[in-house]
Amino acid sequence: MTPASATSPPTFSPEQLSEVRRLQSLYPDPRGALLPVLQMAQETLGHLSLEAQDYVGSLFGLSAAHVHEVVTFYTLFFEEAKGRHIVSVCHNLSCHLAGAQEIIAHLRQRLGIDVGETTGDGRVSLFSVECLCACEGAPMMQVDDRYEVNLTPEKVDRLLEALS
Ligand code: FES
Repeated sequence: MTPASATSPPTFSPEQLSEVRRLQSLYPDPRGALLPVLQMAQETLGHLSLEAQDYVGSLFGLSAAHVHEVVTFYTLFFEEAKGRHIVSVCHNLSCHLAGAQEIIAHLRQRLGIDVGETTGDGRVSLFSVECLCACEGAPMMQVDDRYEVNLTPEKVDRLLEALS
């Protein structure tokens, strides 16, 4: 996929279009492949701009509004450029009772950003999310593709220091 310029929308390469068709053929309704194709677009572009959402929708015969609803429903899709690392703290019941708000406050203070923001050096984006199904490890957070459980401020500090 090539990024949008001032005159053209983002488009998939011929190889990516072939993969789109392969994914669509796996489902009785080709629209079942929307999520993996959106993931492919995000991996290529770094985020899903409105132009990218519109383009992906056109591959499925879906309106931009439909695709936008999907993108904004799932917390792993991003409409704006994010940091190299995504830190998502669960704020749901088990984690809340185990101190998630203190963990979020500690992260905000250490990173110097609010929830939903990215550090000035582009290193970390911070999010507060619904249950990540690791309640037994509350309070917990996801750092990129890893779950980190039984968090304390000291453990959070060690995890942040390990991020490049
Ligand atoms: S409530 Fe936090 S992982 Fe379930």
